Amino acid sequence: MMRILLLLFVFINVVACNEWELDEVGVITEEAMVVSAHPLASAVGAQIMEQGGNAVDAAIAVEFALAVVYPDAGNIGGGGFMIIRMDDGRIDALDYREEAPAAASRDMYLDENGEVIEGLSVSGHLAAGVPGTVDGMVRAHEKYGTLPWEELVEPAVRLAAQGFPLTEKEAEKLNEHQEDFLEYNTVPPDFVLKDEWEEGDTLVLEDMARTLALIRDKGRAGFYEGPTAALIVEEMERGGGIISKEDLAGYRSIWREPITGTFGDYRVISMPPPSSGGIALIQLLAITEDYPLDQWGWHSIPSAHLMIEAERRVYADRAAHLGDPAYYDVPVQGLLNINYIKSRMASFSPEEATDSDEVSAGDPAPYEGPNTTHYSIVDSEGNAVSATTTLNSTFGSKVFVDGAGFLLNNEMNDFSVKPGYPNQYGLVGGEANAIEPGKRMLSSMTPTILEKEGELYMVVGSPGGSTIITSVYQTILNVIVHDFPMQGAVNAPRFHHQWKPDGVLSEWRAFSLGEYIKLWLMGHRVVPKPGTIGRVDAILVRPDGRLEGGADPRGDDMAIGF
Ligand code: DON
Repeated sequence: MMRILLLLFVFINVVACNEWELDEVGVITEEAMVVSAHPLASAVGAQIMEQGGNAVDAAIAVEFALAVVYPDAGNIGGGGFMIIRMDDGRIDALDYREEAPAAASRDMYLDENGEVIEGLSVSGHLAAGVPGTVDGMVRAHEKYGTLPWEELVEPAVRLAAQGFPLTEKEAEKLNEHQEDFLEYNTVPPDFVLKDEWEEGDTLVLEDMARTLALIRDKGRAGFYEGPTAALIVEEMERGGGIISKEDLAGYRSIWREPITGTFGDYRVISMPPPSSGGIALIQLLAITEDYPLDQWGWHSIPSAHLMIEAERRVYADRAAHLGDPAYYDVPVQGLLNINYIKSRMASFSPEEATDSDEVSAGDPAPYEGPNTTHYSIVDSEGNAVSATTTLNSTFGSKVFVDGAGFLLNNEMNDFSVKPGYPNQYGLVGGEANAIEPGKRMLSSMTPTILEKEGELYMVVGSPGGSTIITSVYQTILNVIVHDFPMQGAVNAPRFHHQWKPDGVLSEWRAFSLGEYIKLWLMGHRVVPKPGTIGRVDAILVRPDGRLEGGADPRGDDMAIGF
């Protein structure tokens, strides 16, 4: 009976919901492009490249602009990851992920009986990790920037000081979170100046403008030292948080070697730990390579079944083996070993779903030694940046640093607060991702760049918590295997499985009614999700060398270039 009701529900919603075309071609430009979550941030990045800046300069300006115009996820109080590919083929990965404060401890979110205190790692002051974004941008600029730093921060200062018009979606989100902003702040922030924001209202962020001006004028010291650091520490003291002056002074982002792998003729370049994204994506693609998805067809039953079963196994590995490599010996080579990856599918049945309880993490060769947002950028030299940046939840911990005007992240919830206890994305973990002072929490963020025959081919990434990896995976398959244009590949409805809980989330239109029924009969608990999965912003280099943008219609995302 429940199943019948569910299917009826699906049917009604399938008929009622929007359809985005799978063959839609996105904005095409000759030379350079930015695709980001907000039109004003995309315009800032395009403007920087018109002034002669490269893709990294544009990325820095977009990151700061998003902190103003897209405060749900854009940030200076959070962190992120950036994959860079320069036109000469050099590749790099920048980890500006938050880290646990020195006073953090393994059981800090448990009560005296060892039970998890609901919500403590999700909202409020204790949920925040030490922010990494400002240091990350400074490091990116030192290594790759060409325009003066001040010119890259200035557009954000101006947007905050002069104000900007709210989009309908942004006004709605501010309204939805009014109670949270009041509950988690001792001093009411700018976001509650009106309790019913409307599309077109101008949002002015004076304190934020002052903080950004300090960052513009003093670089790293404008945030991690002086008045901004003092305001963060005062905020912590007022609200019972633990980030200290020393935590801020000690934060350093880290240059890492990207994770690379292949998928047919393509080279995949993505984020290493402390993100699980690169390893999981390459495992998924390596499994998929052995099956004729092009003949089976897009979201056909055999294709969907195979993809779900691959996801089940890959996410089981994620839960057991991945964490911050400075604190846990992540068996990177073992997990990426092709024989190991193929062995994970030994229990695959083409006929029926495997029970997640019967799938545990694999046993790879041991360690051999030592509301998020994504933007994609290509400049006229062919340099590319793929960056995903986050506060974790929409508006992070909901805590504003009073007087400094910005939101703090709630990234501590990405740790495993207790073995086997699901975080807000339902992800479970254990030792590899337990809390330790200074450790970086495991992420799913998957900023990725693909090469074809040694040349830049695609820049892609997404927000969406645990669904990031599967959103990026499906977008890549949509282009390479199913021949969709970039925009169509981004439009295409998505589905997701993450081992535990053992169910498949889907956007309504991911499958036809008949396919929903067939998947259930195979044992897949496919539950259409109200709302959307992922928000992919991507750029494809077309055979003629022009760029095609894929800006996700699930948000206000926009491709702008020249
Ligand atoms: O790092 C992670 O995996 C999460 N903090 C990402 C959060 C996210 O994507 C939320 N966005 N919708």
